[in-house]
Formats: sequence, C-alpha cells, structure tokens
Amino acid sequence: MPLALAPGLLLLLLLASGARGALVVSVPSSRVQTQPGSDVLLGCHFSLGVPVELMELVVQWKLGNSLVAEFDNVASYRRPGASLSQEGLQVGNASLLLPRVGGTDAGLYTCVVIVPPSRESRQVELRVEVPPHVSVWGTEVRAGEQNLVTCNVSNFYPGSVSVTWLRDGLVVGGSKTAPSQLGPTGLYSTTSILPLVPSIPEASVSYACHVQHVALGAPIQEAFRLSVLFPTSSELLAWVLLGISLGLLLLLLARVVYRGCNISMSKIHRGQCGPEGSIIVLWCEVEGRLRATDQLAWARLRPGKEPGRPGELSEPLLKGESEQYQISTWRCPLRLGRERLMSCLIICSAGSVHGPFSCTFQPGTAGRRVQERHITLSSAQGVTPDTDLSSCL
Ligand SMILES: *[C@@H]1O[C@H](CO)[C@@H](O)[C@H](O)[C@H]1NC(C)=O
Ligand SMILES: *[C@@H]1O[C@H](CO)[C@@H](O)[C@H](O)[C@H]1NC(C)=O
Repeated sequence: MPLALAPGLLLLLLLASGARGALVVSVPSSRVQTQPGSDVLLGCHFSLGVPVELMELVVQWKLGNSLVAEFDNVASYRRPGASLSQEGLQVGNASLLLPRVGGTDAGLYTCVVIVPPSRESRQVELRVEVPPHVSVWGTEVRAGEQNLVTCNVSNFYPGSVSVTWLRDGLVVGGSKTAPSQLGPTGLYSTTSILPLVPSIPEASVSYACHVQHVALGAPIQEAFRLSVLFPTSSELLAWVLLGISLGLLLLLLARVVYRGCNISMSKIHRGQCGPEGSIIVLWCEVEGRLRATDQLAWARLRPGKEPGRPGELSEPLLKGESEQYQISTWRCPLRLGRERLMSCLIICSAGSVHGPFSCTFQPGTAGRRVQERHITLSSAQGVTPDTDLSSCL
C-alpha cells in the first residue's frame, strides 16, 4: 500500500529534518452514524511537520456546498451551536462539534484545511439514522372471525419506512400502515395492521412483517405463525343450545306440516230418531289434505265373523242400492288446504238391523293408508230422541 504509507513516511522524514513539509489532512472515520438529539464530533486532523501559525491557517467545514463553520483568524459558525477548538487547531485538531443533531445535519461534510499555498480536504458522511425495532402482536386468532394482527415498528429515524406483510414469502394485500409518528425521544414509530379471517389450516402458514428502512442494511423480517383458537366452551355451549333450539323448531314445523298432510278419521258416530228409534243414523268423518278421488265407503259385515280382516268386507252399501239404506256424502273446505269428508248412512227399520257396520276411507291414489272404523248395532239399543237428522240429510 505505497499510497497509504507515503504521507506517513513523508511526515516522519519531515519531522526528522524539522523542516516544513506538505500539508496532510486525515479523518478518523469517513462515516459517522448517530441518533437525533445527540452531540456528534466530526473528526479531522492536519499536520505540516512543524507547528502551524494560526495566523496563516484557514479551516472550513462544509455540508454539501454550504459553509457550516470557518476559522480564519476568528471562528464563525452558520450552524447554531457548532464549534471548533482554537487550542485543538494549534495542535492540528480541526474536529467539528455539532450538538443535538437532527435530520437537517445529515449529509456529506468536507473538512478543508488551507495553509497557503497548500489546500487539502477530506470528507465525512454524517448519518442521522436509527434502525427500527419490529414486533408482531395479535397472532392468537379466532377461527372464522375477523382478527387484526399488528406489526409495531418503533424508534426509528428518519420517519420514512416501508412495511409489508408476507404469507409464505408472498406479499399479502389488505394491510394498513399508519403514518409515522414522532415520539418524545425524537424517534418515529408506526403500526401496520393486517386483517385476517383464518381457517384452521392457516396455523401451518408462515407469515412475516417485512420492514425496510434506510438505517437497515437488510430488511427486517419478523416471522410468525398464527395460533388459531377454537371457540371457547361457553361459546360452544351457546352453539349447541342454538342447535337444539333450531332442532326443536324444525320438529315443530315438521309436526305442523305432518298434521297438515295427515289424514285423520273419526270413529263412527251414531244417532237414533223416528218412532221407537226406527231410523238409525251412522256418520263418519275424515279430514286432512284430501284428493278429489278420495272416498268414504260403508259396508255391512257378514254376521258372526270378526270384522276388519282382509276379504271379509261384504255387502258394499252403494248409494241407492237398497231402500233400507241411504248414504249422503259431502265435503267442507277447512284452513291450510285441508278438507273434511263426511258421510252419513241412514238405516230405516233399524229395529230389525243389527251387526257390525264399517266405514272405510279409500284413498283415490296409491301410497296412502286405507283407514277403517267399525260399529256394532244391536236391536236392544234405546232411542236417542234429540238427534238432529237434518244436519245429516
Ligand atoms: C480534538 O478536539 C476535540 C474537541 O474539539 C476533542 O474532543 C477530541 O478529543 C480531539 N481529538 C484529539 C485526537 O485530540
Ligand atoms: C405497539 O403499538 C401499540 C399501539 O401503538 C402500543 O400500545 C404497544 O405498546 C406497542 N408495543 C410495543 C412492544 O411497542
């Protein structure tokens, strides 16, 4: 490194000879990083091999092209609070002290030393920067609900920062980052919020809050995984209760619908009128969602046999077939599309009639149940005088 060694060797030679040599200016570090509000010393040293007369020395500090401080017989400063030490200058120390630096102090400084006819300069970069701290909050999330995961980006300088969210390495949309806020310590902070509605498998996905800032060499990636919570036991209980209530409601509905569709048949009612109960009236009813082809049929069962067995229905009583019997059937509409079908069997000379009769509901279409009711008459039965036949006929 002959170039780097050359000034040092020259200095040694000059010191040894005691003669005035070339002007050499050096800076201890070409980059100074500090945080806002702190005092900073920008180091700069010079030598000429012999003590320098202040009378012939000029020192200038520039930020970019503008003068910050100057010593030319006297010291003058453009930047409030900046200072050069006169004692320091006498021994080749041209360092500049800047108290309480802020963002406007940052930049490239030039330390210029002039001892006519020589003029030398060195540069120092002042960076007023603080890298952010990054932390992630709210990674315990509830399955199936809207959750907010928060990324705290705090205590950085300057205020410009970029926050993105990654999901398995890919940028996720929908996040919101607040503008940076200047805190009491002169540093900025911000938060970014990622709204999420996680499902259970989301727990295995790798997320990260990705922060880029000028004070960071490489972006910070605060990685995390979600812990997805199931509903708590009380919530579960509420769901179960809701489920049960819904179930009951459905049952109730089903019952209403069933009742609406169900076809119910009354038993056979009986009345007597006429002299000495010479007329017996039997009637039966069926109600429900009836079809136009549905019928009620009467039959007299073969005496001496148990009624109701298949094939034992006999003597179907058709309207007008016999003078002894008379059948009237009619329909009344009810609510909810239901109907009542009523049939009335009038038996004359009832005194001589006995034995079982049946009333059968015969559905006009397949798939519905045949229903049958029986009544047994005996000649011993008394007269019920107040039976109103007109309601039947
Ligand atoms: C140069 O002067 C400053 C004060 O202006 C002092 O803090 C610093 O220590 C001095 N540097 C050396 C190498 O003496
Ligand atoms: C994150 O930010 C919130 C809101 O600004 C704040 O309440 C919380 O203390 C911060 N947490 C950390 C660790 O900085």
